[in-house]
This record gives sequence, structure tokens and C-alpha cells, in this order.
Amino acid sequence: VSGRGGIKLKVNGKKRVVHAPPMARLLDVLREDLGLTGTKEGCGEGECGACSVLVDGEVVASCLVPLCQVDGAKVVTIEGLAKKKLHPLQQAFLACGGSQCGICTPGMIVAASTLDEGATLDDVKNALAGNLCRCTGYTKIYDSVLAVVGGRDEKKKARKARKAPRAVEGGR
Ligand code: FES
Ligand code: FES
Repeated sequence: VSGRGGIKLKVNGKKRVVHAPPMARLLDVLREDLGLTGTKEGCGEGECGACSVLVDGEVVASCLVPLCQVDGAKVVTIEGLAKKKLHPLQQAFLACGGSQCGICTPGMIVAASTLDEGATLDDVKNALAGNLCRCTGYTKIYDSVLAVVGGRDEKKKARKARKAPRAVEGGR
């Protein structure tokens, strides 16, 4: 531990001091020590992206990050994206059917939150390349993200797709 005072970090804008082993996984610290259970565990091996959070603005797999590595860092979890109401991406995932079991959803949304307005489908695919979904296929997930950050045409397409649910989902 960095000194006896614990490890200090800012989580969702609030200063937190964590007294946990330095090699504790950030994922466990968030869920168990800080009660932020929105971040999910999938593979536990850095492969699925379910545990994605932002550390100093970068998307990281929190299952691979030891607590000591985030001493002094700013961490944002899915809970930190929703302010007084759901984040637009959260609303879009609901409206466009982007989540089913929801295990991948927080990680998808955290990763998508780094996209700039005017993103193309390829930008979205790249941003979500490290996030796996076992349930829905990816089409509705991409639609959900494009409905928020896509350019005008992309948003229009996403709106149309929302009105006409697909019988069959495409893979990626
Ligand atoms: S649980 Fe961290 S990448 Fe799968
Ligand atoms: S909605 Fe179930 S894993 Fe993606």
C-alpha cells in the first residue's frame, strides 16, 4: 500500500481512500470496497471488456489493473456517467435494444463514452473492439451508440432501425 494512509484515488469525481492490498484488482475494489457494482466481471482475464472503466480518461480492463497502479488517478465507472438522469448512451441502449442480459452493457457504454460526436460505424466498431457481447450480436449495440454519437446520417439510420426491430441480428 502506498503508505499506511491507503491508496487515494478519485472515483466518479469523489476522493476515496482505499485500504486494500496493493495488488487487489481495481474491479474488486470498485465492487466490494466502494460498492460500485455497475462494473461487471466477465472473463477476469482482460478479454471481454465487461469490467471496462476509465482511468485518467483511458478505457482499461479493471480486472487487470492492480490498485497500486491507480494511486492518485481519476477513475470513472458506469455510475459516474449517469448524472441526474441516465447518460444519453444508457438511454439509447434501452431505446434501441442494445442490451439483453446487460453484463456487457456497462463496459460497452464506458468504452463508447470516449467517442466524439460524428463517429462513423467504423469508429464505433474500433472503440468497442475490446468489448464482447454473448447475447445480442452487435448490430443493436452499434445502433445504440450511433444514435448518440453518430453523424446526422448515422443517427437517422439508427432511428429507423429503432422503429423496425430486426428479426435476425448481424455479427461483427
Ligand atoms: S472481466 Fe475484465 S476483461 Fe473480462
Ligand atoms: S447483453 Fe448479454 S453479454 Fe451483452
